[in-house]
Amino acid sequence: MTTQTRITRRGLLQSIGTASLVAGCKAGTEGQAPPVSPRSPAVEGEQVGPEATRLAFALNGAPVDVQAEPRTTLLALLRDDLGFTGTKEGCDRGACGACTVLVNGAAQNACMLLAHDVAGASVTTVEGLAPAGEVGPLQRQFVAHDALQCGFCTSGMLVSCSALLKRTADVGGQLTAEQVNTAISGNLCRCGSYPHIVDAVLATAREQGLA
Ligand code: FES
Ligand code: FES
Repeated sequence: MTTQTRITRRGLLQSIGTASLVAGCKAGTEGQAPPVSPRSPAVEGEQVGPEATRLAFALNGAPVDVQAEPRTTLLALLRDDLGFTGTKEGCDRGACGACTVLVNGAAQNACMLLAHDVAGASVTTVEGLAPAGEVGPLQRQFVAHDALQCGFCTSGMLVSCSALLKRTADVGGQLTAEQVNTAISGNLCRCGSYPHIVDAVLATAREQGLA
């Protein structure tokens, strides 16, 4: 029997599943901080659950101290328990980017993290991009460039693009359309607003001396 014929159906499906999962988790995170470990240092060594357990982290700069079951995703906690519905639920499996939030400054899919994975971390949602209720430069350029139609992808797009602008500023770089396309490659827009989104991000970058 050759090596190829020894590949079992189960093994093949497991490989495909793992590869899909990895590919689906924020495809556009090049150059960002590594994703939060499935076992956050903050909870390492602790038994979490099965009942709801205390969870503390920072959300948009404010402390959050809640009880969360170990099975609860960060997305469910944000939307259902904390009322931060700006973070959207699309696929709930790491494929669309509608749920993108920042965890310690890195764009992450909230549906692919357990709430307890962000113990001790700093989480920023789209609401955190306009803390005083005032839209920022990026949001203004989205409006000016017609960068949304139905708007379902917009929260995730704004969060991913904010992270990109911050990274560019941190290294004193000059943003290109290619970099914007890479940054939003994990964010799907069914309305096809991509060219307008890229224009909006580049216009923001020019305003800030980053393009
Ligand atoms: S809802 Fe999280 S990636 Fe689609
Ligand atoms: S504006 Fe509708 S999905 Fe992007």
